[in-house]
Amino acid sequence: MTRKLFVTTALPYANAPFHLGHIMEYIQADIWVRHQRMSGNEVHFVGADDAHGAPIMIAAEKAGITPQEFVAQIAAGRKQYLDGFHIAFDNWHSTDGPENHALSQDIYRKLKAAGFITSKTIEQFFDPVKNMFLPDRYIKGECPKCGAKDQYGDSCEVCSAVYAPTEVVKPYSVLTGATPVMKSSEHFFFKLSDPQCVDFLRGWALQDERLQAEVANKCREWLEPKEDGSNGLGDWDISRDAPYFGIEIPDQPGKYFYVWLDAPVGYLASLKNYFGKIGRDFEAFMADPSTEQIHFIGKDITYFHTLFWPAMLKFSGYKVPDRVYAHGFVTVSGEKMSKSRGTGISPLRYLEIGMNPEWLRYYFAAKLNAKVEDLDMNPDDFVARVNADLIGKYVNIASRAAGFISKRFDGIVATDWATEDDAFLNNLRRVAPEIQALYEGREFGKALRAVMEQADLVNAYVDANKPWELAKKTENDAKLQEVCSRLLEAFRILTVFLKPVLPQLAQQVEAQLNIAPLQWASVGTPLPHLHKIHPYAHLMQRVDIKIFDQLFDAPVTTPAAVATAAVSGSSAATPPSRPSPSQGEGENGGAIEALAPEIKIDDFAKIDLRIARIVNCEQVEGSDKLLRMTLDMGEGRTRNVFSGIKSAYQPEQLIGKFTVMVANLAPRKMKFGMSEGMVLAASAEDEKANPGLYILEAWPGAQPGMRVR
Ligand code: MSP
Ligand code: ZN
Repeated sequence: MTRKLFVTTALPYANAPFHLGHIMEYIQADIWVRHQRMSGNEVHFVGADDAHGAPIMIAAEKAGITPQEFVAQIAAGRKQYLDGFHIAFDNWHSTDGPENHALSQDIYRKLKAAGFITSKTIEQFFDPVKNMFLPDRYIKGECPKCGAKDQYGDSCEVCSAVYAPTEVVKPYSVLTGATPVMKSSEHFFFKLSDPQCVDFLRGWALQDERLQAEVANKCREWLEPKEDGSNGLGDWDISRDAPYFGIEIPDQPGKYFYVWLDAPVGYLASLKNYFGKIGRDFEAFMADPSTEQIHFIGKDITYFHTLFWPAMLKFSGYKVPDRVYAHGFVTVSGEKMSKSRGTGISPLRYLEIGMNPEWLRYYFAAKLNAKVEDLDMNPDDFVARVNADLIGKYVNIASRAAGFISKRFDGIVATDWATEDDAFLNNLRRVAPEIQALYEGREFGKALRAVMEQADLVNAYVDANKPWELAKKTENDAKLQEVCSRLLEAFRILTVFLKPVLPQLAQQVEAQLNIAPLQWASVGTPLPHLHKIHPYAHLMQRVDIKIFDQLFDAPVTTPAAVATAAVSGSSAATPPSRPSPSQGEGENGGAIEALAPEIKIDDFAKIDLRIARIVNCEQVEGSDKLLRMTLDMGEGRTRNVFSGIKSAYQPEQLIGKFTVMVANLAPRKMKFGMSEGMVLAASAEDEKANPGLYILEAWPGAQPGMRVR
């Protein structure tokens, strides 16, 4: 029976071009979708830009254009990536489209009618200059616990304290520097705390195979009753006040849906938009119980997709998702992708320098499995897999066989031997169901290993039959034609197996073999006897490791990109145990951390920065954040300084280096002793998303004690 599949990938924020993580997600979903199509299933595969939210509104304002213009510019750049990596979405839409406005409002109205919406007046910080309420991430100030300056509205990076924005001392708006005032406003909430929600979600999330085991476990945790006896979920704040770039809440002038309310509705909106184009009935498709709704997402947004989204759909009477498949994050040579460290990879640059998109598809596929595991992109590994496996084992089979068929037999294959009992080929055909099952289960790495095992057998057949030897004597012609024809048939079958991953290459093979597009069912239909193929042309180049020099972004060294952060004591803030509703409204890439309010030179002169030599550096027993440093700044004595950089450096790496310290900071008593100063290190604004600390090092010639001014 053919399946009816509605497949999506997460909708990327429309504030930046795609990065490699996006492309990985699309490749994963695309491979799965292509596999389904080759099985004869009906698949509708859609994506869209996630257009709404405060960061996009603010970015547009900075750029001096409307948010609509801003997202349109980003959207205009999407196609070259999608086409470039052969990602076959049926439709790409926007959450700001009319379908999404209508659907989001409809879902809201139905939730409201069913009693799942309440309102509450809450107090929030408000920027009186900008005239807008401030999300927590737009508030900074002094930590209420340790007094560190310029800490976020929700947690301190110096002492790891977690607090409410209202507790921040001397708060300021990062948008204007103004002191925010408290202002009350009515907010709308989705009543997730309703016992019906928790009951439904338990059933939904824990039903077999809907979620990966590790994701289901997380859900179980989230849904567990709390210590106070409440049911585990709090009500979800789904409204934001104007000015906001979003969808208006019906009958509530000046109120908008929080971006995460309308973002997943964008899945439905894109499908509806697509069905409008092809003249299909969206409502009927969604009402059909056999329709399967499947979301591919990254691990960071499971909370939204396994709690909020299914509950929203359920209690508004819509179809609930059948599967949510979460993947891990792409790292590059073991590190988080980061522009400033030179480990960022621009997918567009990849294409521009002539790297083959199917190398990347093959490489990602070879490393993907059904678990929520991070996936590392490593140049040596990349080259090995592409050259040794893809080219060495598979592509070469064609070049070893097709040439003889073209040159010696006018392109004619002889397959009258290809009867039921041709054991070699039948064994190859017999693994098809196993490989299909691996694709189905998103075990792409295992699928490719199984294919390469078969390719090994085919190559062993080449070595055993030595066509180049046969070719030496014309009396062997019949045998040569048979061997090469059998190899081409084997190559054809392997091409079926690899087609979900290598659609472009498969198309070239189909053209060369002069056959119709391959499907899974084609495995059992051999090349016809006396079929004529086209002359062989080389299918794919090998990768040269040197090309990676062009691929990696040069490390960014402008001062603006290296946001300095003072590091003393601990650095990494403990994440709140449950994501707050506003999480995810972040900006990825693009803008740097907002600048602190302007100061005068006299303000700066108060900070005495000195070159210091790191005389010694050691672990601090009992601390997982700190290193103890002994610093010499030429005073005739050394200073003891604790620094929260343990996650970034081995103590030995630092000994002997010259760095910069704040020399006139009041000594501070810490749990492990006195800290008599502070060393400086750079870090990204969002340390949770982009950890990594970079201590400063002085240029040669700087001497301990020299002032930095
Ligand atoms: N706009 C939200 C999603 C709304 S879905 C209704 C969002 N956008 S995003 O642009 O930040 O991320 C889009 C997708 O890319 C998410 O699935 C996210 O997990 C994924 N990735 C972001 N960085 C990634 C890597 N480094 N590696 C792999 N995937 C990553 O979240
Ligand atoms: Zn603090």
